[in-house]
Formats: sequence, structure tokens, C-alpha cells
Amino acid sequence: MQILPRKTLTQFLIEERRRYPDATGDFNALILDVAMACKQIARTIAVGALGEVQVADAGAINVQGEVQQRLDVLSNEVFLRVNEWGGHLAGMASEELEFPYPIPPHYPRGKYLLAFDPLDGSSNLDVNVSVGSIFSVLRAPERCIDGKESEVIEQDFLQQGYQQVAAGYALYGPSTMFVLTVGNGVSAFTLDPNLCEFFLTHANLTVPEETHEFAINASNSRFWEAPVKRYISECLAGKTGPRGKDFNMRWIASMVAEAHRILMRGGVFMYPRDNRNLDKAGRLRLLYEANPIAFIMEQAGGRASTGRQSILSVQPSSLHQRIGVILGSKNEVERIERYYTDPPGIELPDPLFNERGLFRTPA
Ligand code: F6P
Repeated sequence: MQILPRKTLTQFLIEERRRYPDATGDFNALILDVAMACKQIARTIAVGALGEVQVADAGAINVQGEVQQRLDVLSNEVFLRVNEWGGHLAGMASEELEFPYPIPPHYPRGKYLLAFDPLDGSSNLDVNVSVGSIFSVLRAPERCIDGKESEVIEQDFLQQGYQQVAAGYALYGPSTMFVLTVGNGVSAFTLDPNLCEFFLTHANLTVPEETHEFAINASNSRFWEAPVKRYISECLAGKTGPRGKDFNMRWIASMVAEAHRILMRGGVFMYPRDNRNLDKAGRLRLLYEANPIAFIMEQAGGRASTGRQSILSVQPSSLHQRIGVILGSKNEVERIERYYTDPPGIELPDPLFNERGLFRTPA
């Protein structure tokens, strides 16, 4: 029999745990449960319209006011069922649930909280484009763990991103990948569909500091704030503009897929705050989209910002809070942050937004 040369996710976690002699194993068990949920979702997605769960929308609207796909609902159920019984969690929060999910009384309660988006980018499902699951692990307050009466409440999840114990995502693409940080770099695992096991394929991932690729939904350009308009117009000006080099643009409309591309080859992803709807501070959700991906980016040497401050330093104010997101290659994100802090009045001219500009803002 051929001995497998690669490390499994389980082996990776056990070796990590050896660095902490006091660790109970709860955390490892939790991550393996999350990975199991991702494997189940991957299997369902992989058979597409041949499966029992059709891709068509479920006709419902979720707590975000967005159309809920059947697979959104199913993936949420998978995450809840696979993670509720193990005794590692005091509660969960999901994009699909308005309120925190307390661990049912017949299961023990543990010391962690799990926040997740069970199926990100699900509007891409009916066109068979990559989607993903995103998760964030936080510490639960003492009063919620086993033997104590108190149940988790929204406030328990409102922790700044730098307090995350771990974060990761699964990417359901041509191959399924599980990307994880436990605050000690970023590792990526690829699913072997025959063994149904994740194997370490990319250790110590680093985001290149420089890039010539950006991702933004340009149909929103008329709503962008001035620093974003300036940055994009400079990229579009290419070799003949102030950047002196040509840029490439990508937009998959699936944040996990964009984040993964950036992790592999650099780039900038932007879903910034804009002035389309001033009640919303952005499109993406802070606790289970922006924070986990920001943690991964920063652990891989990249940067994640709202433009005005590091995403990981934002004090959340509600479970489903939205936030502007600019992340990826460090030098580019820092450049955009500088554009935000430039005092008004010294902004560079914006050739692509003036009278004859490509992204002209109507008067
Ligand atoms: O959850 C939000 C999401 O699906 C992200 O994965 C993606 O980046 C974004 O929405 C796409 O938004 P839009 O449809 O505006 O391009």
C-alpha cells in the first residue's frame, strides 16, 4: 500500500496543539466539526441540479433582506447540526438567523462561539460559479459555558476582530479547499474526494505586497467615495497614469473566491462604503464575512481596512452589522488608506471622473 505523503487537517491540528500543553482538545474538535460541515456542503454543491436539493431559490428572504436559496437554508442547517452537539460551543451566529443560536439544553456547552456565513456568494449557484462558507471562532463569556444558566446573547458576539481565536473559509471551486488561521499564519488544505479528507497543500501562505490586480463592482462607481474613485481611476490610467503600470480587473461576486485569489497571487478586493444608502456602512457583514477574511489576510501578511481604520479594530455594534471592506496586498491597501487620510483640498485630479471620464459622475 502506498503511504500518503501529505499531512491531514487532523494531523496538522494535533501538531499545532502540542505547542500548548494545557489545551484540552476542544478547539481541535471544533475545527474538525466545522470542516465536516464544509465537506457535507461541498458534496451537496458538487452534484448541482442532480442532487435532491435544487439550486433554485427557496422563495424566502433572509434577515439581510436578500433572496434565500435552498442551499443557503440547507447549509445553515448543516452548520447548526454538525456543530451543536460536541460540547465545544456556547452558541452560534449565522447570516441566516436573526438572533444568536443557543446550544440546545440537552447538549453540553463549551467555551467558544462560532459565527458563520454558511454559503457566501450563493447568487452564483445557478451559474455554477465558485461559492464558499466563512467562519469565525471567538471565546464565549464565562457565564455561558457549561453548568451556568445564562444563554448567549447578541452582545457576546460583539468582539473586535483581533480577538478571534481562529477563522477560515471553505471554497467550493473546481476543488474544495479549507483555509485556516489559528493566529499563527495561514494554511490551506485541499479535499481529497476519494478519502473525504482535507490534506495540507499550502503551508504558510503569504499575500504578495505588490500587485497589479484589483476587484471591485464597477457598476457602483457613481456612489463611491472620493478616495476609491481616485484609486480606481489611477489603476485604470495604467502605464500612462500616476501609477506607471497597467492593472488587471476581476469581479467574481463571490467574496471567498476573490479572497482566495488574492491569497494565492495578490491583489486588492474592495466592497467599500459608498453613498448609495447612507444607512448602510457597506455591503459585507462584519462578524462573519469581513472579520474572518481580514484575520486571514493579516495573518498572511496582507492588510484589511475600512479605508479609515483596520477592520480588525472595529468595535461591532450589532450582529449583522455591515462594513466597508478593502483588503489584500499590503502596499495597495495602505495606499488607499492614505487617500482616505489625505487632507481635503490636496487630492490629485481625477481624469476618469471629469467631463470626458470613463466613470463620470452625473451632475
Ligand atoms: O455576501 C455577499 C456577496 O455575495 C459577496 O460574496 C460578494 O463579494 C458580494 O456579495 C457581491 O456583491 P454584488 O452582487 O454587489 O457584486
